[in-house]
Amino acid sequence: MAIPPSYIQELTARNDIYDVVSRYVSLKRAGRLYKGLCPFHNERSPSFMIYPETQSYYCFGCGAGGDVIKFVMEMNSLSYIEAIRFLAQSCGMPMPEEDDGAAKVKSRVLQMNKLAAQFFYRSLNSDAGRNARKYLRDRQLSDKTIVNFGLGYADAGWQSLTDYLKGKGFSEDEMVSAYLAARGKNGRVYDIFRDRVMFPIIDLRGNVIAFGGRIMGDASGPKYLNSSDTPVFKKSNGLFALNLAKKSGKDTFILAEGYMDVIAMHQAGFNNAVATLGTALTQQQVKLISDYAKRVVISYDSDEAGQKATRRAMELFSKAEVSVRVLQMNGAKDPDEFIKKYGRQRFQMLIDQSDSALDFNLSKLKSQYDISNPEQRVEYLTKACDILATLNNAIRQDVYCTRLANETGTDKAAIKLQLERARSKKRRIQNYQKEKELLKNPLTRNVKADWRQKESTVQKTFAQQQIVCAILRNNSLYDVVKNRLTAKNFTDGDMRAVYTACQDLLESGQAADYSVLAHSLPQQAAQTLAGIFARNADIIITEKDVLMHIENLLTAKLSQREAGEKSVEEIARRIELLKGKKK
Ligand code: CTP
Ligand code: MN
Repeated sequence: MAIPPSYIQELTARNDIYDVVSRYVSLKRAGRLYKGLCPFHNERSPSFMIYPETQSYYCFGCGAGGDVIKFVMEMNSLSYIEAIRFLAQSCGMPMPEEDDGAAKVKSRVLQMNKLAAQFFYRSLNSDAGRNARKYLRDRQLSDKTIVNFGLGYADAGWQSLTDYLKGKGFSEDEMVSAYLAARGKNGRVYDIFRDRVMFPIIDLRGNVIAFGGRIMGDASGPKYLNSSDTPVFKKSNGLFALNLAKKSGKDTFILAEGYMDVIAMHQAGFNNAVATLGTALTQQQVKLISDYAKRVVISYDSDEAGQKATRRAMELFSKAEVSVRVLQMNGAKDPDEFIKKYGRQRFQMLIDQSDSALDFNLSKLKSQYDISNPEQRVEYLTKACDILATLNNAIRQDVYCTRLANETGTDKAAIKLQLERARSKKRRIQNYQKEKELLKNPLTRNVKADWRQKESTVQKTFAQQQIVCAILRNNSLYDVVKNRLTAKNFTDGDMRAVYTACQDLLESGQAADYSVLAHSLPQQAAQTLAGIFARNADIIITEKDVLMHIENLLTAKLSQREAGEKSVEEIARRIELLKGKKK
């Protein structure tokens, strides 16, 4: 649920951070701030601060920081929405969904969907459903499978479901909003799903949230009709059979393209199969899968389109915390057909032999080159070494080097040498990333070290932090900045996110302050920002300072190549030392 910024503003205004925190932590005034013992780590002397001006908190001991909503989330282990509800209740504000009656609309749509699913199920088993029953039987679905998936039949009438739902007290507009009916030119409503086999989409709580309907035989029209987005359904984050796959208790999921593939797989005992709903895989669906599975086997159609979709899916999964394998199928166009032709055991074999993402990537790479041509062979091997460098198992690396050597008739020693180069390049990049992470730790600034690299990164990051801090405390300074810098100058990811968010607000004539920003920003950036406010609480940043920081930002040089392994470890070690001293 998206909460409008105006709601957050009012909520945070009505829940002063001092009032809320003081219910949990005993706070003492210290000038313009309040101090207390940090509730998020063990300490004897107070390093936990409240800043009434920015309505933020920050702990100099453990780095915890944020606004009042974040505090309530952390303190009571609540989700974002739960924390908002908690604060809304404590100041007597209604939740936004209760405001506009959205919750009521949702529950009406769910009721209609449930009645419709039952209606379709009864039709399938009535006289009108004879053809549909035959169709499902011809596709070798058992009665048990039909019940398990709650399959049904929407008869050929134009008003069958609408009449039924009218009798149950639902209005035409409600049916239209549930995507069960549409309104014709003459103003009358009619059933959207007619003469189709119906597949209900069921969420994890057992609610029917949408339908897919398949045409039978050679009737005209699109093969499948799917519910479009409704108040209870978003195609882009729905998955077919997720309810069943989750119940399977398996930590591997199989991802297929079609309804019928999933159903055939479940019937054959692969009850961990899911599918998207007639759309390309989205980041939300990847997230959903990674919430419930550790591994996923992509099992798309064997045609060109299916293989292209596989590559896309692999890329999406590579950023999530699931390991991916790819099933390669020959002799059948999709899992449904494969299982029918060759049986469940051979399908199990395909799963067992499914390629790791590594094999898939290497063979994809190879297909782009003609390795009989020396130039192209070199390019292929160089790129292949970049891929192998991502492995963290030396034995696997060696095995693949041997394979590459045989495959291209190249000396294995040369390939290993190139692999070493690729690995050290990768290490340099990783060190650079690690160093950037380290710089987020406020203690890094206290580390006295004169590595050029560290200094220039610190300088640059520091300048960016001061600039956004100044803008947030005094929005009129934005004009000074926007004439000299673009978002691209903000090389620190968090600071760029903050600056872009400020830009969006200020350019559209809204005020940019922490209570609004904290919720449009990624968590990490919001927390870093709380730390910046904390460190600058007593520092005045003038326009002249801002100009100086801009100057520094534009001149400081940062070379990725110079980020040495040693300096990163050294900085980390010194931070540990500083922490030890504090205790
Ligand atoms: N799809 C769709 N609309 C279409 C065709 C396909 O929404 N006109 C979606 C459906 O979700 C379908 C999936 O894309 O399940 C895969 O399409 P396809 O491989 O053609 O369907 P199958 O599930 O294999 O169905 P069948 O075996 O009945 O042909
Ligand atoms: Mn099919």
